[in-house]
Amino acid sequence: MTIDDDTKKKLVVLAVQARQWAYAPYSHYAVGAALLTASGKIYDGVNVENAVYPVTICAERVAVFKAVSEGERHFAALAVVTRNGGSPCGSCRQVLAEFGLDTVVLIGNEKGELLKETSVRELLPEAFTPEDLAK
Ligand code: THU
Repeated sequence: MTIDDDTKKKLVVLAVQARQWAYAPYSHYAVGAALLTASGKIYDGVNVENAVYPVTICAERVAVFKAVSEGERHFAALAVVTRNGGSPCGSCRQVLAEFGLDTVVLIGNEKGELLKETSVRELLPEAFTPEDLAK
């Protein structure tokens, strides 16, 4: 799906707005995400850390899980914003890949600047997907 420039900007702005709710008392690295579904809804997410560090969950996965838990399974685009344009981690790439390799990934910063536009396919080459289990 092609995403127009206004929609891209909107997703980045929503991710910046969501980022204020990041719970990151340990890393102090706040992350905000905004996920556009194929049906046109937008789900945001933030990283939620924990005193047991590995229990922490990333902003992107929070957004995906919120959407999936409400019946969404097709995603057009995900914006993720950090202070320095950080890229989605490997676990988030895998979770996104589950629902489609063509999801557009917009990487931005806290100022709302779009720094990079890519896709899950580009971020996770040779992904293991549900199709591999069907073979
Ligand atoms: N983090 C995310 O929310 N998304 C990513 O893709 C990378 C890392 C969070 C996890 C942790 O709370 C903090 O950033 C530092 O790793």
